[in-house]
Amino acid sequence: MEELYNSIFRRKSIRKYDVSPLPPDTLSEIKQYASNVKPLVPTIKTDFSYLTAENVKNPLPIKAPHYICIYSEKAEHYLMNAGFMLQQVDLYLSAKSIGSCWLGMAKPASRALLKMNGMDFVIMLAFGNAAEPLHRASISEFKRKAQNEISTLSEASDILNAVRLAPSATNSQPWFFTGNAEKIQVHRVKLGIAKAAINDKFNQIDIGIALCHLYIAASVKGKNVEFLYDKSDEDKAPKGYEYMMTAVLY
Ligand SMILES: Cc1cc2nc3c(=O)[nH]c(=O)nc-3n(C[C@H](O)[C@H](O)[C@H](O)COP(=O)(O)O)c2cc1C
Repeated sequence: MEELYNSIFRRKSIRKYDVSPLPPDTLSEIKQYASNVKPLVPTIKTDFSYLTAENVKNPLPIKAPHYICIYSEKAEHYLMNAGFMLQQVDLYLSAKSIGSCWLGMAKPASRALLKMNGMDFVIMLAFGNAAEPLHRASISEFKRKAQNEISTLSEASDILNAVRLAPSATNSQPWFFTGNAEKIQVHRVKLGIAKAAINDKFNQIDIGIALCHLYIAASVKGKNVEFLYDKSDEDKAPKGYEYMMTAVLY
């Protein structure tokens, strides 16, 4: 957990790769790690698959030797759950000095690969040895909103600092946090109709990624975390945001 926490403060998206495949042992360690990540919603059925570049359709020219895809049943909160799970893999890869990048626009190349055991393809990460600097040297290199722009909390500032640095699609940082050190509500920005079509999916994944950072930071600070959807927290969303989930820390 400590090593994932340290990755939060230095990871970055890697878009240039050495395209030679990772050694088989390294690849099996990654697969082993991914198969044991913690879900946000344990009842949702998910699985991972691994593709190489010839089986990936990506409008953007990011060529990596490997891609990890997450599949999920479309149960409530499945997009947040996918973000929460795959972000653990992103941080793990960074901790192991392997580059990675979330790819929202990429898809498996064939229709058959969009489904697996009744589950649907959700999103993928590219990964492999980086052909550019792998880590940031300091927090100042992150382009992120300040804590007071994304939160009304006066407590838990060390946890929120880790959350603030989470990656999001087009770096939109669509999150807002209310509550206190024991109970943190997360909300996401409401989208106008024009932006909703694509970003609605990504924004929910982004919230899951932020919750992953929250979980890791809280765990490292010695806290247990439980996530729940609490109807009575729905009215805590500030204007322009909608309530998504509550983290209970104890
Ligand atoms: C859900 C999601 C989808 C993303 N899709 C893409 C993508 O298609 N192409 C890309 O180059 N980066 C993509 N990114 C990476 C973001 O642009 C990047 O995380 C953000 O700009 C912050 O930069 P950093 O990850 O280097 O801290 C995506 C990130 C997330 C979380």
